[in-house]
Amino acid sequence: MEQTFIMIKPDGVQRNLVGEIIGRFEKKGFTLKGLKLVSVDSAFAERHYADLSAKPFFNALVEYIVSGPVVAMVWEGKNVVATGRKIIGATNPAESAPGTIRGDYAIDIGRNVIHGSDAVESARKEIALWFPEGIAEWRSSAH
Ligand code: CMP
Repeated sequence: MEQTFIMIKPDGVQRNLVGEIIGRFEKKGFTLKGLKLVSVDSAFAERHYADLSAKPFFNALVEYIVSGPVVAMVWEGKNVVATGRKIIGATNPAESAPGTIRGDYAIDIGRNVIHGSDAVESARKEIALWFPEGIAEWRSSAH
């Protein structure tokens, strides 16, 4: 089953949006497979955003991600990567539709509340980076 990596960024945690965001993924029908509140250091944030290292906003982005705890999650379900991106909304909150997380809760591209993997392959890499210990597994089919 497809999985994606979702991170509630420091502004989302600080603004008490964790429950709201988790609720949106739960109510859509996705399954929570991994969840932790973590503070990462610059080296780790640079690995997560390695593809953006040439961007002019890279240093500011890394500083922002290390500024406070983030909620790292793995969500599972049919088309969860693409549908998760729809639930999150466009990267720039000026373009994200009302009803999406960024459309409802953000106005600044540098403080856009949440990250979601952009493709199945990046989800696989991001889950391996953030959850090297693995994720919880159901041990029976009773659920
Ligand atoms: P995210 O989905 O985490 O992926 C990369 C992040 O870079 C993005 O969300 C934004 O937070 C950030 N970002 C993208 N473009 C800009 C920009 N022009 N200025 C500042 N931050 C940006």
